[in-house]
Amino acid sequence: MSKRIRKAVFPVAGLGTRFLPATKAVPKEMMTVVDRPALQYVVDEAKAAGIEHFIFVTGRGKEVIENHFDLAFELEATLAARNKTAALEELRAERPAAGTTSFTRQQEPLGLGHAVWCARDIVGDEPFAVLLPDMLMKHTVPCLKSMVDAFEASGGNIVSLEECDPAQTSSYGIVALGKTLGPDVFEVTDMVEKPKPADAPSNFFISGRYILQPRIFELLGTQERGAGGEIQLTDSMLRLASEQDFYGVRFRGTTFDTGTKLGFLKANIAYGSERTDIHPDIVKELRATLGA
Ligand code: G1P
Repeated sequence: MSKRIRKAVFPVAGLGTRFLPATKAVPKEMMTVVDRPALQYVVDEAKAAGIEHFIFVTGRGKEVIENHFDLAFELEATLAARNKTAALEELRAERPAAGTTSFTRQQEPLGLGHAVWCARDIVGDEPFAVLLPDMLMKHTVPCLKSMVDAFEASGGNIVSLEECDPAQTSSYGIVALGKTLGPDVFEVTDMVEKPKPADAPSNFFISGRYILQPRIFELLGTQERGAGGEIQLTDSMLRLASEQDFYGVRFRGTTFDTGTKLGFLKANIAYGSERTDIHPDIVKELRATLGA
C-alpha cells in the first residue's frame, strides 16, 4: 500500500520578471485574482487533495507570503469588534492551522530542481506533491486530487499533463507517453525540458503538478545544469523514471498561466465570472468594452 501524500511544496522564489513592474515590490504569487492572491487558489487545490503540510520555498522579498498564511491578530480583532463576521469567517477558513506551514529560502535562483531540493529536509522520507503556483487549474475535480487518486491505485511518481500547440514545446517540459493505463492515465517513457519542436517527443507538457518519491532529492543533489543553465526538475525526473514507475495524468480542466499577462487576465475573468456576486456586472462590462 502506497504512503499517503501529506506534504506539498510550493516553489515561490521566482522573481516574476515576466510581470514587471507589478512584481517589483509585490511577489507575483500574491497578485490578486478577483479578491484573493493567486497562491491561495493553489493552496486550496492542495487542501482539497488532502494535503496537510504546506512547504513554501521562498526568497528575499517574499515575506508577505508568510504573513498571508499567518494569523493577522489586529485585523481579526478589529473585524470581530466591528461584527464583520463574514469577512472574519473567510479569513479563518483560509488560514492553515498552526504548525502546518513551513518556509525555507532558495538562496540563489538556480532553477526549479534546486528550489524543490531546498525542501528536502522538511519533506523527509515520504512521497510528496509539488504545485507550481503560476498555474491555476480550474475543474470540478481539482487536478492534484485526481493525481492523488491515481497515486493511491498505482504508487510511483506522477505528473499532470496537458496538450500544447506543437510550436510551443520550448516553453515546457515535454513527455513521451507509453502505455495507456486507465482513463487519462499513461506511462511516461521520456521527458525533455523545453525542447525545440523538432526535438519534442510529443506535444504533451508537464503542466505544473507533481507527485514524487523522496528519491528525487538524492538525484537533484547531483543534478547538472540543463536547459537555460538551470538545475531542472525534469532532468532528475527522467533519471528517476529509469529506476521507478512514472505516470502522467491528463488534466481535462482549464489551466491559466498567471505568469503571463494574458493568462492572468483570463484567470480574473474566469474566476470572476463564476462568482454570483459579480457575474452579471462582469458580463455587462465586457460587453460594453468590446462593443458586443
Ligand atoms: C516549469 C517546468 C516545466 C513545466 C512548466 C509548467 O517551467 O520546468 O517542465 O512544463 O513549469 O509551467 P517554467 O515555466 O518554470 O520555465
